[in-house]
Amino acid sequence: MWNPGTWRSKPAAQQPTWPDKANLERVEKELASVPPLVFAGEARDLRERLAAVARGDAFLLQAGDCAESFDGFNADAIREKLRVILQMAVILTYSSGVPAIKVGRIAGQFAKPRSKPTETVDGTELPSFLGHMVNDMPFSKGDRTPAPERLLQAYNQSASTLNLLRAFTKGGFADLHRVQAWNQEFVASSNEGQRYASLASEIDRALRFMEATGVSSLQTEIHEAEFFTSHEALILQYEEALTREDSLTGQWYDCSAHMLWIGERTRQLDGAHVEFLRGVKNPIGCKVGPSTTPADIVGLCEVLDPDREPGRLTLISRMGADKVADTLPPLLEAVKEAEYPVVWACDPMHGNTFTSGSGHKTRHFDDVLAEVSAFFAAHRGAGTWPGGIHVELTGEDVTECLGGAEEVQTEDLAKRYETMCDPRLNARQALDLAFRVAELVIPNR
Ligand code: PEP
Ligand code: CO
Repeated sequence: MWNPGTWRSKPAAQQPTWPDKANLERVEKELASVPPLVFAGEARDLRERLAAVARGDAFLLQAGDCAESFDGFNADAIREKLRVILQMAVILTYSSGVPAIKVGRIAGQFAKPRSKPTETVDGTELPSFLGHMVNDMPFSKGDRTPAPERLLQAYNQSASTLNLLRAFTKGGFADLHRVQAWNQEFVASSNEGQRYASLASEIDRALRFMEATGVSSLQTEIHEAEFFTSHEALILQYEEALTREDSLTGQWYDCSAHMLWIGERTRQLDGAHVEFLRGVKNPIGCKVGPSTTPADIVGLCEVLDPDREPGRLTLISRMGADKVADTLPPLLEAVKEAEYPVVWACDPMHGNTFTSGSGHKTRHFDDVLAEVSAFFAAHRGAGTWPGGIHVELTGEDVTECLGGAEEVQTEDLAKRYETMCDPRLNARQALDLAFRVAELVIPNR
C-alpha cells in the first residue's frame, strides 16, 4: 500500500548525506505544516491539458532554468523568463495552430542530480554542489555541507516566485494585446526579434479584426495566460512534506508544483523516486535517456500510469542528437503497442552537453535543433504525436550555448556565462528554436 512515506524503504539515488538528522526532521515537520504552493484542482487542470497533448490536440512547452538560484533572486529575472516562454508559446500557437501548454521549470527547481557525489580539488574532497535546496556552490566545507534550512528557503522562494507568476499571468502582463511589448530590446534588433515583431503585428491585426466584427477580444483567454510550474522531484523529504490529501477527492497531491518529474539518474523501477511519484495524482514526467530499453519503458508506464490515464505521464526523451534516430523508435513502438496514452516530449539539451575548448560546459544550437528534428521524424515514422519540447533557457542575454542565428562562438562563452548548472538558451536562441519547432508541428486536423 502506498503512502507519502513508502519511498523511505526503497533505495534513493542522488540523495545528500545530511549531517544533522535531527535538524532535517525538524525542518520536515515545519514544512509539513506550511500552506501548499499549488492546489489539487490546478494539477487536475494541467492533467486535462496534457490529455489534449496526448491526443495530438495540443503541444507542451516546458521551459526554464536548469537550476534556480537563491542569489540575485528578483522580480526582473522571473518576468524575463516568463516573457520569453510567452513569446515561444505565441510563436508555436500562431504558426502551427495548435495550443501550446506552458509549464515552467520554475518556482521549485532547486535540486540537481550530479554525475559524481563528490568533487576533489587539490587533494580536498567535498560533496558536489546539489543545488541551492541542499548546499552552496563555493568549494568550502561550510558551503558544501548539506543544510536542511535550505529546504525552507526553497519553499519560501518558490512561494514568492509563484505569487509573482500568478500576478503577471493574471494581472495584465500576459494579455495578448501586449504581444508586441514582450519583445525585449536586445532581442528586437536581431533577426529572430524582427521575425517575432511581424508575427506580433499579425496577432494585433487579428485581435482588431475580431473586435471590429463584434467578437469580443476581452475574454479571459486573451487577457490572462495559463501557466503551470514543475521541477525535478529529487529531494524526497521536501516532496513528501508538501504532499497533501485533497479534501475533494481524498487523493494525494504533491503540492510543491503542478507537475513533477523523475530524472534520468533516478528512474530505477525499484527505487525511491518511482515509488514516491507513482502514488501522487499530479501529472508526472520521467526523463528517458539512450540506455532505456523497451522493457524499461513499459515497466515505467505500468508503475507510473497503471490506469492508462491520458495526461498522467509525460515521457521526456533526452537521447543526444546522434543517438535519437536509433534509440527512440523502438521505445515509441513499445509504448504504442502496450497502449499507454503518454505525452512524448523532447529534451534536446541534456544529451548534447560537452566541454568547449574554453573549458565551459556548453551545447550547440545545431545539435539541439538536430535532436528536435530527429524526434519529430521518429514520431512521423511511428505514427505517434511529437507532443512537446523541454528546454533550459533564460530571458537574459547570456552566452552559454553556442550557435544560433546570432552565432555565439567559443570565444564568446566567457562573456556572460552565468548558469549555476547547465548551459541555457538565451532569449534570441529560444525564439529561434520556437520558430524552427513551429515549422515541424503539423496539426492533426
Ligand atoms: C535536468 O533536467 O536538469 C537534468 C538533470 O536532466 P536529466 O535527468 O535528463 O539528466
Ligand atoms: Co539541466
